Formats: sequence, C-alpha cells, structure tokens
Amino acid sequence: MNESIKQIYPEAGISRHAALPITDQFERTFNYLRIAINEQCNLRCIYCMPEKGIDFREQHQLLTTDEIFQLIIIISQMGVSKIRFTGGEPLLRNDLLELIHIVNETKNVDSIHLTTNGLLLGKYVKSLKDAGLSGINISLDTLNPEKFYSITRRDGLDLVLDGFEKANQSGISSIKVNVVVMRDFNNDELLDFIQLTKENDVTVRFIELMPFDYHQIWKTGKFYRAEQIVSDLKKQVDGLVPVNGSRTEHHVFRKNGYKGKVAIIPSYTRNLCGECNRIRITADGKLMNCLYSQNETNLRDAMRSGTSDEEIGSLIRDAMMKKHKDGWDAQDQGNDNRESMTQIGG
Ligand code: GTP
Ligand code: 5AD
Ligand code: SF4
Repeated sequence: MNESIKQIYPEAGISRHAALPITDQFERTFNYLRIAINEQCNLRCIYCMPEKGIDFREQHQLLTTDEIFQLIIIISQMGVSKIRFTGGEPLLRNDLLELIHIVNETKNVDSIHLTTNGLLLGKYVKSLKDAGLSGINISLDTLNPEKFYSITRRDGLDLVLDGFEKANQSGISSIKVNVVVMRDFNNDELLDFIQLTKENDVTVRFIELMPFDYHQIWKTGKFYRAEQIVSDLKKQVDGLVPVNGSRTEHHVFRKNGYKGKVAIIPSYTRNLCGECNRIRITADGKLMNCLYSQNETNLRDAMRSGTSDEEIGSLIRDAMMKKHKDGWDAQDQGNDNRESMTQIGG
C-alpha cells in the first residue's frame, strides 16, 4: 500500500465508523462508484473527441493516487461496494495497478472494474488480474479494420482483439464488450458481434449514441434507438432467451446454446434511470449525481482545503440526495456544454 496512505489510514481494511447507505428522495440506493482517473486517450473516437485542440486538464488538476484512495475509503464506508475505473483511457495512468491493488485490500469493496478501449489490455491483463481486478468492459465498435480506423482515427483493431482474447483467458470473471451502435456505420454488424458470445462467456452490449461530443456527430443522423436494436436482434437471431444483467443492461438475452449474453443499454433514451445505483467522480475530482447533470460537487478542492472525511461524506450524501428523477430532468437544469465523454468519465 502507498506509504502516505498507510500513515493516514493505518487500518484501511477496517471500517472506522459504520455509515448509512447513500440514498436519494426517490428511494434509490447508490452502491457503485465510477471514478475517472484521467482524460487522456490513445484513440480519438469521433463521437468522443476531436483529433486536435482538446483542452485536457493539467496534471495538478487531476486527483492524485492518495486522493483517489481517500475518496474510495470514505465512500466504501457508506455502502459503496463496486468500484469502476474509467477515463479517458485508464490504462494510460501509471498508478492504475497500484490503485487496484490497494482498493482490493479495502474493506467493503466487493468488486473492482475497468472500462478500457483495449489497446493496452494484452500487455497488462495478467498484472490487472494479479492486482485483483474483477471485471473489464472493452469498448469496440466494429470488427472491420478500416471502419475501426474511421471511427477511432487510429489503427489497432488487432491489438484490441488480442486484448479481448487474453482477457478471456485471464480468469477475470466478468468480460464485456461495449459497442456504440451508429446508423449506417455498424448497425449491420450486430450478428458478427453476437458470434463473440458463442464460445466465450462474455456480454456484448449494444449502446445508444449520446450527445456528449465536440463534433456533434450525434446531429448527423447516426443515432440508433435501443428499441430498434432489440427489434433487429429479434428479427435476425433465432432462439434469443431473456436473462438477467446489470443495472445499465436494460434488455438482456442469451442465444440458445451460446456461452455469453447480449445486452442493450438505452443510454440516451434513459429508461434505466429508475434503477440507477451510480455515483460518478470526474478525473479532476468533481462528483456528478447523474451522467446528464450539469451540477458538480468539487470534492478535490474540499480535500485539498483540509475538509474532514466525515464532512466529505456529507458532501457526497447531500449531492446524491439532490439527484433528479431521471436524466431528462437532470439535463433540463442546465446548458449542455460538454465537449467530450472524457469530461464525464463514461
Ligand atoms: P456494468 O457495471 O458492467 O453494467 O458497466 P456499466 O454499463 O455501468 O459501465 P461502462 O463503463 O461499461 O458503461 C457503458 C455505457 O453505459 C456508457 O458508455 C454509457 O453509455 C452507459 N451508462 C453507464 N452509466 C450510465 C448512466 O448512469 N446513465 C446512462 N444513461 N447511461 C449510462
Ligand atoms: N455515446 C455513447 N457512448 C459513448 N462512449 C463514449 N462517448 C460516447 C457517446 N457519445 C462510450 C465508449 C465506452 C464508454 C465508457 O463510453 O464507447 O464504451
Ligand atoms: Fe478514447 Fe473512449 Fe473517448 Fe474513444 S470513447 S476517444 S476510447 S475515451
């Protein structure tokens, strides 16, 4: 464990005080933290960020290793048991393995997950498993190399597929593939993606495009609705049986005889909000109580100005209590000025 953290929390594995779970006025309970650990990325997905001129925050603005760990300690004592590291591309942050390792020793945390673009996965998957990672979600929108280049502005499909293979062999229990479905780009690849579930116990998730991008490709007719994806699947695939999935997976199926599952995430149409169990923290330490919220609670500055852990806990609790009924109400409260998903952490 990091030495300075050891000094602050000599018994990180031991709850110092039992706290009530984090809830809101709509009786939702929040037990899942998504924490972005950087904004940088080694791809340039066209729905996420422009090729050049991105206003990434400077290093000193981002949470340090100790600050990330401090927040995880506080929040895990408030009933949060699932932690996901997102980005940017979290594998570009060089303390990721250390973070997983120390969070793995933290009492009350049951599982630690990673959302990655997969480029560096082959290189790190064994160390990730050894550090205690429980799950990996890999973003991959196409199985065609030319299309991969056109969506990410980089080569690398082979590397991602190699990372996927190695993740499958690693013994990490949950492996998922995130596919953002876009009209006339990859909506004809649903069957190819489902083939990944034939021999592998993985979940392929088809995701709606969301409007958090600089270029607003969102406005160019690429949006493909979750209900349309479900209807396409039912037409194209025989023997789809409904099964259970995670809270974002609004529709989940297994094709008879296949090992893995296929799910649909209505991230734009948002009929999953009633089930929301997520707290988000951005790479610069702002808590967001909804993906579509424009209001942030600055936990980084609170920590840097010496606010006690108990008070930080109260800031988190108060912010979550103010969560709106759904992402539509949250969006209505402000101007939509996000330029990239990396400012939100996926
Ligand atoms: P699991 O824990 O495996 O279910 O993963 P996840 O879906 O929570 O995490 P992941 O990072 O793989 O996110 C996949 C996609 O789900 C994101 O790109 C979003 O499109 C969508 N998503 C995640 N959280 C939310 C949310 O709170 N609201 C909405 N509308 N969409 C979300
Ligand atoms: N719409 C939908 N999904 C997006 N992602 C990034 N930007 C968008 C967007 N505008 C996805 C990535 C990754 C996840 C964390 O977020 O593909 O799977
Ligand atoms: Fe990188 Fe993910 Fe954004 Fe693509 S969507 S540019 S992989 S952060």
